[in-house]
Amino acid sequence: MSDSPFTIASFIRAESESEGAPRFVRRFRVPGDRGALTSATLVLTAEGIVEPALDGRVVTPEVLIPGWTSYEWRLRVVTIDLRDRLREGAEHEISLLVGNGWFRGRLGWMGARAVYGSRRRVLAEVRLTFADGSSEVIGTDDSWRVTESAVQADDLYDGEVIDARHRPSPAMPVIVEAPEPSRLVVTTTPPIVRHEAVPPVRSWRDPDGAWLFDLGQNLVGWLRLRVRGPEGHRLTVQHAEVLIDGALAREPLRSARAEDVFILSGGDDEFEPTLTFHGFRFARITGWDEVEGAVEAVVVGSALPRIGTFACSHPTLTRFHENVVWSLRGNTVGLPTDCPQRDERLGWTGDIAVFAPSACYLFDMGGFLRAWLADLRAEQAAAGGRVPYVVPDPLKGWAVREGESPESTAIWSDAAVWVPWALWEAGGDLEVLQESYGSMCAHLDHVLARLSDRGVWEGDFQFGDWLDPTAPPDDPTAAIADPGVIATAALHRSLVLTAAAADALGRHADAQHWRSTADRVREAFAAAYVRSDGTIHSDAPAVYALAIVSGIVKGAGEAAAGARLVALVRAAGHRIIAGFAGAPYLCEALTRVGAVDDAYALLLNTAEPSWLAPVQRGATTVWERWDSLRADGSLNPGEMTSFNHYALGAVVDWIHRTLLGIAPGSPGYARVRLDPRPSAALAWAQGGLQTPHGWVALRWDRLDDGPEPAYRVRYCAPAEVELELGDVARVRGERLSEQDMRDLLSAHDQTATLSPEVPTAGRGA
Ligand code: BGC
Repeated sequence: MSDSPFTIASFIRAESESEGAPRFVRRFRVPGDRGALTSATLVLTAEGIVEPALDGRVVTPEVLIPGWTSYEWRLRVVTIDLRDRLREGAEHEISLLVGNGWFRGRLGWMGARAVYGSRRRVLAEVRLTFADGSSEVIGTDDSWRVTESAVQADDLYDGEVIDARHRPSPAMPVIVEAPEPSRLVVTTTPPIVRHEAVPPVRSWRDPDGAWLFDLGQNLVGWLRLRVRGPEGHRLTVQHAEVLIDGALAREPLRSARAEDVFILSGGDDEFEPTLTFHGFRFARITGWDEVEGAVEAVVVGSALPRIGTFACSHPTLTRFHENVVWSLRGNTVGLPTDCPQRDERLGWTGDIAVFAPSACYLFDMGGFLRAWLADLRAEQAAAGGRVPYVVPDPLKGWAVREGESPESTAIWSDAAVWVPWALWEAGGDLEVLQESYGSMCAHLDHVLARLSDRGVWEGDFQFGDWLDPTAPPDDPTAAIADPGVIATAALHRSLVLTAAAADALGRHADAQHWRSTADRVREAFAAAYVRSDGTIHSDAPAVYALAIVSGIVKGAGEAAAGARLVALVRAAGHRIIAGFAGAPYLCEALTRVGAVDDAYALLLNTAEPSWLAPVQRGATTVWERWDSLRADGSLNPGEMTSFNHYALGAVVDWIHRTLLGIAPGSPGYARVRLDPRPSAALAWAQGGLQTPHGWVALRWDRLDDGPEPAYRVRYCAPAEVELELGDVARVRGERLSEQDMRDLLSAHDQTATLSPEVPTAGRGA
């Protein structure tokens, strides 16, 4: 572990914890007799979340510092440049507002609070260097004081109470505690920042006289209010993702109150609840009639550089793709989460395991997921090789089935392999595999030791094909697909990928070991699950899809599985009968067995359940369930009814690689496969991707001038990149210059040539 990034600072905390957020303060003078300040930085972290300010102004665009890591072993340290904010010879005040955050607030649906500790603490140093070569450090110690702040209550799930009438309370001494240097880490994750502001598209009064605001987009962040009204007047803001019968549907939030309260000072106020966040499209404000002011939503999330785009002639499909982008943005507030709104917001491993390849086309996920994988490894090491359901893991010891201890579970625990593999494919950075290889092997060894006598993974609890639409709302694991079949196919995929990782790392003997283990698992699978006619036990689309893409059936076995998958998909009228495990792979499996038309029919279907039905009903993000909102307009009564879950959006990986036809031909796109599979169902499709070697883009158009549909493909790629051209691109392909390609794409889609997002500036306190 690293040396401490701090030189003299100790943790400080208030003597007793109060309901409100404490503010730690220290005045200091910048010496005026040492020449110019050559550098000034603030290095800090907190147990809780900290908002640092200098002379009353917040000093960083980063919010929710330090984000959520596996705090038992890894507490992220942040460095902020203060050079332009300090003056030689001047007196300044640094203040650190500390909220409960993930450390001390509520976590999970089981009512847990203060999972990591019951006290909020902060650790910070201001480091100054001067032209004369001298330096000075002001660290948190017993010279700091703590006061109350305007924040009377704060919780990530429940919301925040801010009283703008607040006047500084008496400054109290602090308690000083030594830091444990081994926990303090500098990570690769991008900061959590404010992104764009979104004005309401509509506002109206409800029958009770409160105001409702529709942001037009289900998003993650908070409302910013600029108001003027009577001193002491209360505004209460509630949030929800959907309206039912004209009222906020708050049931899906479960126990998360998602309610902010602002108490007016009597002057001009600006409120932003920066110690919480909400997932919402609609907000309801009571007390709004008596004030004058403006409302806008502030989108909050990790500053991930946007690198990939897609659009096509089918507006509903293009909107679906956009919904996936929004769900990814909403579920990357510091870590990859399942959902951003209810009493959960956890780093569910299965969701990112299936979604990582899609994410890696849309955004540069490298720094973000590498940091998360470091948490995964820390949790896994502490759990004896088992990869937990969630990372960070506040559910430690929690088992889905009573009386059992938690065990590895397929797809979820396979995140240890599938996520680093997706990063390696997208970025070609061998360090990712170096960092994760031990964890990949430990996961496999752990699971292999749990196989049954038949050599398949059938004894443990499995989430399986979670949320299969045929499962009853209150039992999401009751899928048609047999959990052992899903688990064994997923294991096979992990074995094959780990073998490839071993080869990439030059560990060829290991690679051989994992390959022969994969062969053994494949034989066991055939003996246990494949019938003589080639059908697979439980006969669900998900088992065929996963068996095909994992390579656990090959040759004649793959052909038979493919034929059965096609038959099932057609018999269902191209509606989806699969959940988290199967749905991401249906189109890919159909394509592999030559049924690309069926893949399109599935993708473009608007009958329920399908990817596009929610879009037709106004979805602006991906729903957790195919029918989170049911066709009759009612809420799905199941406990899991989020409107912002990216997992079922993982089909966009097929859209990128196959429909559009841009895929890595080798890790990191040194070789690029341009192999679009156009369909007469679309007039055109286009997209571009910033690869590590430069911009690659492609557009195909259907030509309607002959008896058979024919296509024109135009593309561009950097000169040094080796191209693997598929049939269409080879026969009718035309290579354009980067500029011509940019012009072509932006003529049809304004977002086509997106550049990485830049965080917006911080606000005044
Ligand atoms: C989460 C999922 C997660 C699942 C585990 C849910 O509550 O929201 O996305 O993967 O539990 O099966």
